[in-house]
Amino acid sequence: MFDKLPVPGRNDPCWCGSGKKYKKCHAAADEKMEEFVLKGEEVLPRSLLKTKKDIEGIKASAAINIGVLDYVGNHIRAGVSTMNINEWVESYLSDHGAVSADLNFEGYPYSVCTSINDVVCHGFPNKKDVLKDGDIINVDMSTIKDGYFSDSSRMFCIGNVSDERKRLVEVTHDAVQAGLTAVKPWGHLGDVGDAVHQVALDAGFTVVRDYGGHGIGKEFHEDPFVSFVAKPHTGPILVPGMCFTIEPMVNAGKPDIKIERSNGWIVRTKDGSDSAQWEVQLVVTKDGYELLSW
Ligand code: MF3
Ligand code: CO
Repeated sequence: MFDKLPVPGRNDPCWCGSGKKYKKCHAAADEKMEEFVLKGEEVLPRSLLKTKKDIEGIKASAAINIGVLDYVGNHIRAGVSTMNINEWVESYLSDHGAVSADLNFEGYPYSVCTSINDVVCHGFPNKKDVLKDGDIINVDMSTIKDGYFSDSSRMFCIGNVSDERKRLVEVTHDAVQAGLTAVKPWGHLGDVGDAVHQVALDAGFTVVRDYGGHGIGKEFHEDPFVSFVAKPHTGPILVPGMCFTIEPMVNAGKPDIKIERSNGWIVRTKDGSDSAQWEVQLVVTKDGYELLSW
């Protein structure tokens, strides 16, 4: 096939390991993928498609990832430092037999990313960063459990937050929801990115171009790269079994970012405006999507 991997005989076991005959399992989808390739569309290799067993593994990982974020949501308040959040994360993960996917990833030195106000992403937990009334913070959590990866992030509003900050947080959440609604099997990934982008633009905000979502499952970051400034009808074809994140970073001001030079990680808006992000992880299904982590 287009991905150079073998095609089983129709009565042979499917390549996905389901134990079903190929003709009753992936045969029809494989044919469809081949047709899209012939039409000149971009189709990712079948090796990225998740099997039933993979999805079970990812869900077990995600249950912990969701649990950590629920724990954070129940305890976060003014007076808590972002290092406290890192400690909560580490003890929750070790209690649940899991590890952080962030820790040591390309040298990242903490177990979670905590990004306050103008920090766009990859904020370092720090005992000196104590949350105060009016802050908005993104807590981005990624878990490895039995070799399976999960990844999601949430915004938290600390105490009395200004209407403009609240609106940024809510619009970013709406943008993710619009992206999810645009996930259609055999549609284009660019439709998802564009749906996200339009919600942010309509609200007068901008979307960071330098970072995006990603495939995920057996690795932390797999193909495809998911841009949230994509054009409709562009990019790879969405195929049932594809697993990826929707995680736009929405800025109140200009979309430009700068990376803190002393550590090479912490990303801020260039103009000092606020930034928000929510992240969900999903799998494409026969009729839409299933949320795996949020
Ligand atoms: N959790 C981020 C994502 O959504 C990745 C963070 S990488 C780290 O893809 F190294 F900074 F943790
Ligand atoms: Co992610």
